[in-house]
Amino acid sequence: MSSPIFDQPLSCFVTGTDTEIGKTLVASALIHLQAKRGFKVAGMKPVAAGAKLEGERWVNEDVESLMLASSVKLDQNLVCPYLYRTPVAPHIASEIEGRSIEPDHIIKSFNEIQGLTESIVVEGVGGFRVPLTKDFDTADLAVKLNLPVILVVGLRLGCISQALLTMEAIHSRGLKLLGWVANSVNSDMHKVQENLLAIRERIEAPLLGQVPYLTNASFSQAANYLLR
Ligand SMILES: Nc1ncnc2c1ncn2[C@@H]1O[C@H](COP(=O)(O)OP(=O)(O)OP(=O)(O)O)[C@@H](O)[C@H]1O
Ligand SMILES: [Mg+2]
Repeated sequence: MSSPIFDQPLSCFVTGTDTEIGKTLVASALIHLQAKRGFKVAGMKPVAAGAKLEGERWVNEDVESLMLASSVKLDQNLVCPYLYRTPVAPHIASEIEGRSIEPDHIIKSFNEIQGLTESIVVEGVGGFRVPLTKDFDTADLAVKLNLPVILVVGLRLGCISQALLTMEAIHSRGLKLLGWVANSVNSDMHKVQENLLAIRERIEAPLLGQVPYLTNASFSQAANYLLR
């Protein structure tokens, strides 16, 4: 099977039905596919909360994965302009650490990366509407960046409604839902195909891949399950 959307450099905003459902895995796989085709591609995680000190560098797993997959190597501060140490919701982390999120700074970093690449894959934070400031959330960010959206659906109980609500939220902002990826985050989910079908029947955008539960999941492995 092939999907023409992967035949050219593809900039997109990767969101998900929830936190911990495979956005980083899928976003990194999307970057990996493009890098393998020889495109100048980089990942971006505008806001990340939760970092460990390794040597002299604060390291966040999402940022590491996106950077590893990217063919264009960039400074970490550009890839992740807001990296917080505390693993809590971003607006809370920003309060705790005394550094508020300025959407314009994110846009500036994005534009800078755009000047150095052919495509950027931006990973959101948690689900689609995670507050970043008092009046700006991750959905607003997707709008500001004007990127088509790829929705990662973490296959677990409750995911059908989460997927449909997220689709509505994407459409109601005038954004394009490029497609969705079904990701098996648990090895013991019942009735996977039935759940998939229920979503397929209700989301017009194409299913771009179905990633099974993978032991020691890696983005290069996950990329094999994306239609290309
Ligand atoms: N298909 C899969 N098979 C096995 N493990 C998976 C799969 N998809 C994701 N995981 C694992 O689940 C965890 C969460 O995945 P990931 O970090 O990609 O989620 P996320 O949506 O980006 O989370 P966050 O909201 O924290 O950014 C990771 O440890 C990842 O390796
Ligand atoms: Mg992530």
